[in-house]
Amino acid sequence: MVTVEVGGEYLLNIEKIVHGGEGLARPEDGPVVFMKNVLPGETVRARITERKDSMARAELLEVVAEADCRIEPDCPVFYECGGCQLQHGDYQAQLEFKKSIIEESFERIGKLEEWPDFEVLGMDFPWYYRNKGQFPVGEKDEELITGFYRAGSHEIIEFPECKIQHQPINRLLDKVLEFFKEHNLMAYDEKTDKGILRHFLIRSGFCTGQLQLTVVVRNSLSGEVLDDLKKFLDEEQALVSIYQNINTEKTNRILGEVSELIAGEKYILDYIGRNKYSIYPESFFQVNTVQTEKLYDIVADYARKINPGKIYDAFCGSGAIAIYLADKFEKITGIDISLESIQSARVNAELNGISSSVDFQLGSVEDLLPEELADDELIIFDPPRKGLPDETIELIKENRVENILYISCNPTTLARDLKNLAGDYRIEDMTAVDMFPQTYHVETVVLLERKE
Ligand SMILES: C[S@@+](CC[C@H](N)C(=O)[O-])C[C@H]1O[C@@H](n2cnc3c(N)ncnc32)[C@H](O)[C@@H]1O
Repeated sequence: MVTVEVGGEYLLNIEKIVHGGEGLARPEDGPVVFMKNVLPGETVRARITERKDSMARAELLEVVAEADCRIEPDCPVFYECGGCQLQHGDYQAQLEFKKSIIEESFERIGKLEEWPDFEVLGMDFPWYYRNKGQFPVGEKDEELITGFYRAGSHEIIEFPECKIQHQPINRLLDKVLEFFKEHNLMAYDEKTDKGILRHFLIRSGFCTGQLQLTVVVRNSLSGEVLDDLKKFLDEEQALVSIYQNINTEKTNRILGEVSELIAGEKYILDYIGRNKYSIYPESFFQVNTVQTEKLYDIVADYARKINPGKIYDAFCGSGAIAIYLADKFEKITGIDISLESIQSARVNAELNGISSSVDFQLGSVEDLLPEELADDELIIFDPPRKGLPDETIELIKENRVENILYISCNPTTLARDLKNLAGDYRIEDMTAVDMFPQTYHVETVVLLERKE
């Protein structure tokens, strides 16, 4: 075995990009080595920074032989900021990496032997797409700053503009920072528990242009600042909703328990296709409005193939899928554990005039999915990153549910769940959608059919 030691420098050939966006190299007879900012096919000189039994981690020193897809990242802070991982590869290559990340998870974690060939649907313009940004606030040389955390740290990296945020969010962020500088407010310091400003959360209606600002604070802003924020809303045409959220905890969680409306509307609006959606500070809404329409069209196509008597939209968030499907299918029940999301799902049903055909229930999928499911019922699962609960997988198997539509934002937990279902279900069809260009994340839609 090659001695791969911390501090040692090696020439390595990069085999592929893996989940997390790092490149993987397999030195002959050595442990696998992971490192950032490299691309498949490249030869690089790297220094080992971490060594465990079967793996090591390295930092890139020099690209000795470049991949054809290597490009100059558009963002000046790409190599410092933790937000994007793939800007150094051209967009077509990024889509190929995502396909191989999914396939690698299916093989290695899912132990699956076969699945249909599938496409990763990309964006025509894979920039400025995020409709939600959460920006930590800090201080540098006694001046207020904002930006994103450096990967794995709480150091704030400032940027002139974030290349994946919707531009109106970038523009508003500059003005919000100016506003609080002028009011001489201090950033919250988690070490001393002093200061007030913690995060700026900005959400945008991609199709409507409406903006919502939530100022996350350690203690309530003063009456004077709150009054000035009302004036700020009047001055900024696109800004239609301002909240403050008080988070008193020493925690990594961004939002505290309660968001208080300070000025303007309770929610902003966005559209997916012809459907209208309300967005509150804490309600779930997919961050890439443009790609979400493609995702939901695939869901609708797969559901049409099955033509179910009833649909469960399990983990429904603000009910976006249920509402998207409501003009095509009759009985739809949405289930979500978050009160804010279910409240906004009900508002969304009203906004679209379909309250009588969809039903939204507050609670866990584990508790609310019926013990007995009929043959013609379709369950759409869109769980959080951790995937499906064990009892839900058991329930599906026991009920011999005919079809399942599984939407996943995490190929590793998707592969784990497919492994657990593989004895009873086969993958009938699948498509991936690039909801998160420039990052390693990818959304996968899988249609499962029960084996005879
Ligand atoms: C990926 S999001 C759903 C997105 C939604 N389908 C959409 O397209 O907008 C996952 C949702 O699962 C909810 N959730 C997490 N654990 C849950 C559970 N055990 N039961 C029900 N809902 C849960 C979260 O509140 C969140 O809204």
